[in-house]
Amino acid sequence: MRKNIVAGNWKMNNDLAQTETLITALKGQTISSDAEVMVAPPFTNLWAAYNALKGSDIEVAAQNMHFAENGAYTGEVSASMLKSVGITTVILGHSERRAYFNETDEILAKKVDAALAKDMRVIFCFGEELADRKSDNHETVVGDQIKNALFHLDAAAFKNIVLAYEPVWAIGTGETASPEQAQDMHAFIRKTLADKYGAEVADSVSILYGGSVKPNNAKEIFSKPDVDGGLIGGAALNAEDFFAIVNAF
Ligand code: PGA
Repeated sequence: MRKNIVAGNWKMNNDLAQTETLITALKGQTISSDAEVMVAPPFTNLWAAYNALKGSDIEVAAQNMHFAENGAYTGEVSASMLKSVGITTVILGHSERRAYFNETDEILAKKVDAALAKDMRVIFCFGEELADRKSDNHETVVGDQIKNALFHLDAAAFKNIVLAYEPVWAIGTGETASPEQAQDMHAFIRKTLADKYGAEVADSVSILYGGSVKPNNAKEIFSKPDVDGGLIGGAALNAEDFFAIVNAF
């Protein structure tokens, strides 16, 4: 059966000292749910975070990586580099990467391939913009994002893929999709997977929701049958809030 997962995406927040402080606070919290817990600090703090959380129930993930193995890509980091500092899960395709760093479906397909080739787990993000939802185009947009970046994979690859539906209009805005909107989209995503790979694969993939998940709305969102956890931005920067969300399962 698929896993419940709560992952904290720290984005470009927390220097080394702040990372150490937040990790100490996270280690002081108790996990009372069955959810797998992850945090994704910026690149500079991955090694410190990995060491500080080694042996705990909190995994450290990366927020991005390049598709090349190595070479002349100034400012970039590869899958092997992440693995060399203990990181085996990477977030790819976050809407901020797509919007500010021009990451296209084509680039993301290459990144997914590069991560999977190194046996990494991918949290693959996608989601529609407000205009898409207003024009009732959200399912088409999301379906295309998934197909374009993932549907060249074989079914077996999906054991290392986690999906994260993050409507762009709900990220960092305080506006969440209603639990019903999240459930409807997650059911659509699962059906899209089932149509291509069959029900067994579709039922085994965890689909996270992201976009202004907070302690006061997590329980209702997570109660929906096709919502298998959350990708948490703002609320992941506070240990108590983050664990209130983790323990909402
Ligand atoms: P938010 O961010 O929780 O601050 O809306 C979610 C995300 O971008 O992953």
